[in-house]
Amino acid sequence: MTFRERLRALPTFPPGLPPFGVDLDDLAAAPATPQQLFAQWFDDALAAGVGAPHAATLSTADADGHVHARTLVIKDVTEAGWWFAGHATSPKGRDLAENPHAALTVFWRDLGRQVRVTGRASSAGPDAGAADFRARPDGSRAAGLVGHQSEPLGSRQAYWDAFSGRLDEAREHPDAVAPAWTAWVLAPESVEFWAASDDRGQSRLRYRTDAPGAPTWTKELLWP
Ligand SMILES: Cc1cc2nc3c(=O)[nH]c(=O)nc-3n(C[C@H](O)[C@H](O)[C@H](O)COP(=O)(O)O)c2cc1C
Repeated sequence: MTFRERLRALPTFPPGLPPFGVDLDDLAAAPATPQQLFAQWFDDALAAGVGAPHAATLSTADADGHVHARTLVIKDVTEAGWWFAGHATSPKGRDLAENPHAALTVFWRDLGRQVRVTGRASSAGPDAGAADFRARPDGSRAAGLVGHQSEPLGSRQAYWDAFSGRLDEAREHPDAVAPAWTAWVLAPESVEFWAASDDRGQSRLRYRTDAPGAPTWTKELLWP
């Protein structure tokens, strides 16, 4: 079998996909905010045993329009938006400093569902960044204290040497915070909920706002 044939033979979704969870013929009755529907779908993902349901693809672009995407974990979802964290000095941090427009995409395969959040990301401030960092396990804090994320690494040994020193520091000083560690919040301008179904039809519901700070949400269906 060729690689192409093996790809074609793969099922994308398991059978028995759940319904959308919202009456799409009565959008007025749908949750008032995308955060509420996200929480509902997140509970479904947890109940279905989806692996790492808090993992998402964060897409950013620099000032020249070069796009970069990577997986990270969602740290919170509040009225302000979707939270994530990392080094401000990393490529993602540099992108966001140049261009706050970003997207977070979640794919819950077992449910046949995808959520796409787009908007502007901003730092939630040093206290939020420090609180996020301190809540990480020792090993994660040690890796964070090493820094240099995404810079070329001369050898694995160089990393282990740096890591072991930082692990001691992380254990001895639980309050230590990597200086560039940042919690960002992606204030949503658009949140799209996409669901496949067993009959291969797809359903899409988008929440959209022109005032991300104090949103009034427009709910609309999209052609699949
Ligand atoms: C499941 C998973 C979770 C991750 N969580 C984070 C995270 O919360 N923050 C982070 O900075 N990187 C996280 N990473 C690593 C990123 O994917 C990426 O390698 C790193 O942030 C550097 O990205 P950048 O060079 O685009 O800035 C995670 C990776 C995976 C696979």
